[in-house]
Amino acid sequence: MEDREISRAVIGRLPRYYRYLGELLDEGVERISSSDLSKKMHVTASQIRQDLNNFGGFGQQGYGYNVKYLHTEIGKILGLSHTHNIIIIGAGNLGQALANYGGFEKSGFILKGIFDVNPRLEGVTIRGIPIRRMDELRSFIRHHEIEIAALTIPKSKAVEVADILVEGGIQGIWNFAHTDLILPENVIVESVHLADSLLKLSYNISSYNHESEK
Ligand code: NAI
Repeated sequence: MEDREISRAVIGRLPRYYRYLGELLDEGVERISSSDLSKKMHVTASQIRQDLNNFGGFGQQGYGYNVKYLHTEIGKILGLSHTHNIIIIGAGNLGQALANYGGFEKSGFILKGIFDVNPRLEGVTIRGIPIRRMDELRSFIRHHEIEIAALTIPKSKAVEVADILVEGGIQGIWNFAHTDLILPENVIVESVHLADSLLKLSYNISSYNHESEK
C-alpha cells in the first residue's frame, strides 16, 4: 500500500466499509463491483471508488473489488491485524450490556476483566469473566497486557479512575461517562454519546415531517 496520508473523513468511513466487507466475506462473496457495493451501502459508486482508491485502487475494471484483500487491508489500517485486550470499569447496566455482547471479539477485542467498586458484584461472572475489585486494577493491566479500558462509571468518578488507568499504563479509553477526559497525549480517548445519535434521529424525523408538510 502507498505510504501517504489518508484524510480523516475517509478514516471515519472505514469502520463501515470494514463491517460491510466482513458481512460479504461471511456470505462467501469473493468480489464485488463498486456499483453493487454502492447499492448495498447506500453510498454513491464514485464515493466508494474515491475512498477505496486510497488503498491502492484495488478495484479492477470488469473484476471489481477483491473482498478478502480489501477487508484485510482496511483491517490493518484500523489496527486490527493484532488482537486488543480490553477491560470494563463499572459493571452496572451499561458495563454489563457491553460485557454480555460477544460481537467485539470477532474484530479482535478480547474482554479480559471487569471491575467495579460495589462489593456485592465481586466474583459475579459475566460470560465466565469475574467482576474484580478496583484495587486489583493496576496490576491486572500490567499482567494481562491490557490496551483498552471501557469506562462505564458515573461521570463524577471518571476523572479519578482515568488517572488510575493512565498510571497503570493503559493506551486507550473508550469513554462512556459524559465528561471530557484531559489525559497525556499517549493515551487515546474515544468518547461515545449514544444520545447524539438519538438527537440526529430526532432531527431527521422533524426535518422529514417539515419537508412533507410543504
Ligand atoms: P449504573 O449505575 O448501572 O452503573 C455504574 C457502575 O459503576 C455501578 O456498578 C457502580 O458500582 C460502578 N462504579 C461507581 N463508581 C466506581 C468507581 N470509582 N470505580 C469502579 N466502578 C464504579 O450506571 P449505567 O446506567 O451503567 O451508566 C454508567 C455510565 O455510563 C454513567 O456515567 C452514564 O451516564 C453513562 N452512560 C453513557 C451512555 C453514552 O451513550 N455514553 C449511555 C448510557 C449511560
